[in-house]
Amino acid sequence: MATLELSETTPEAADDGVWLACIDCGESFAPFDAVRYTCDECDGLLEARYEHYPTFADFGTGGDHPARPALDESTSLGVWRYAAALPFEEGVSLPEGDTPLYEVPRLEGDLGVRNLRIKHEGMNPTGSFKDRGMTVGVRVARELGVDRLACASTGNTSAALAAYGGRAGLETLVLLPSGKVAAGKVAQAALHGARILEVDANFDSCLDIVQNLAARGEAYLLNSLNPFRLEGQKTIGFEILERFYAETGRFPDRIVLPVGNAGNTAALYKAFRELVESGALAPGDVPKLTGVQAEGAAPMVEAVENDADEVRRWEAVETIATAIRIGNPVNAPKALPGIRETGGTAVAVSDDEITDAQRALAAEGVGVEPASAASVAGLRRLREDGVVDAGEDVVCLTTGHLLKDPDAAALAGRDPEPVANDTDAVLAHLDGRSGSLAARLRRRLP
Ligand code: F0G
Repeated sequence: MATLELSETTPEAADDGVWLACIDCGESFAPFDAVRYTCDECDGLLEARYEHYPTFADFGTGGDHPARPALDESTSLGVWRYAAALPFEEGVSLPEGDTPLYEVPRLEGDLGVRNLRIKHEGMNPTGSFKDRGMTVGVRVARELGVDRLACASTGNTSAALAAYGGRAGLETLVLLPSGKVAAGKVAQAALHGARILEVDANFDSCLDIVQNLAARGEAYLLNSLNPFRLEGQKTIGFEILERFYAETGRFPDRIVLPVGNAGNTAALYKAFRELVESGALAPGDVPKLTGVQAEGAAPMVEAVENDADEVRRWEAVETIATAIRIGNPVNAPKALPGIRETGGTAVAVSDDEITDAQRALAAEGVGVEPASAASVAGLRRLREDGVVDAGEDVVCLTTGHLLKDPDAAALAGRDPEPVANDTDAVLAHLDGRSGSLAARLRRRLP
């Protein structure tokens, strides 16, 4: 089991109060002296650690829990408002974060929980939460002086990397599973100037290749295996806690989120651990992290259900939610303790349940891509199974925008109806051809 205890004496390797620590053996490393993704000693995952962990007041809100600082010209909103919890004061920013926390009263009533909010990360600059990771990750890339950035991607990471890499003036290279990436994402990566390599394999194999390229010094890896990506993504957790508290006077009981590589699960858990460490959050107030996967790509769910310490790699994966079509969640060693220690769980949902949830969100004006809707589909399933009770305050994370996957949206939505170029024909069509009472009455109008 990973050592996820944060409090330790500052090691010599620390640079300005920041260092990297191995979650398996505890070895510490200087954060910016060399490119490093995993532990030199045991190959375990690395995590950023700090001399000081933040309280809510450190986020510039001037109080214990207010949601947002007073606005003046010097106030940075979004990810960099949380600089006290990040390795730098500012980054390569578009800017990102400060996404809405929507009320969805009809869905809330339908699912039968006390409060339901949707944290819509699709409202970030490139339309997904990946922007939060890239603003920090690309800043670190600059610090390290690398010149080529790379990632494997189911789509959103590639779009964000292309945009942020372009902004920083760095070359970007993305490896995509051929034919399995939604159209909007490929278009973004292409237009923002990434070199796109399509591999005839699934995402997990693309990531294997990018890791090999990174190990050979050919590129700087910006998948969520990179610990600094997760530092940026922590800010989702800070925003949810602040805003939910400001609106309800409580912290949410549960956060439900889609899981692919399990980076967000790990990042949210880290945000909560840091706030607990600083004393800003009572251990009993930490939301239960609840992961959702598609039935055709559910290795994390399998591990949680079997109470296993390790996640089995699924070689064959399939789902309409292509963003989470992943069989080897590389952040599992960070995310599994997060699910377990917060009292959360993991659940798998079918593609039909995902599409139904996508429609239900869209009906309330919230447009998300299929992977995002998995969170709501999972909540529905857990309510039906009695795992989530009616008294709970729940936040579902929706990770990407509807326009990312226009084909899935068109399939889930209504079909366009062809009509003649004629007003009467349009009215007749709307009323049904046989001529309804309304149509007959209308015909009598002058
Ligand atoms: N939702 C969306 C829309 C995603 O794009 C991803 C991951 C996830 C959820 C899963 O998040 O990996 O932190 O558990 N997309 C990556 C990509 C893999 O390449 O865009 P996770």
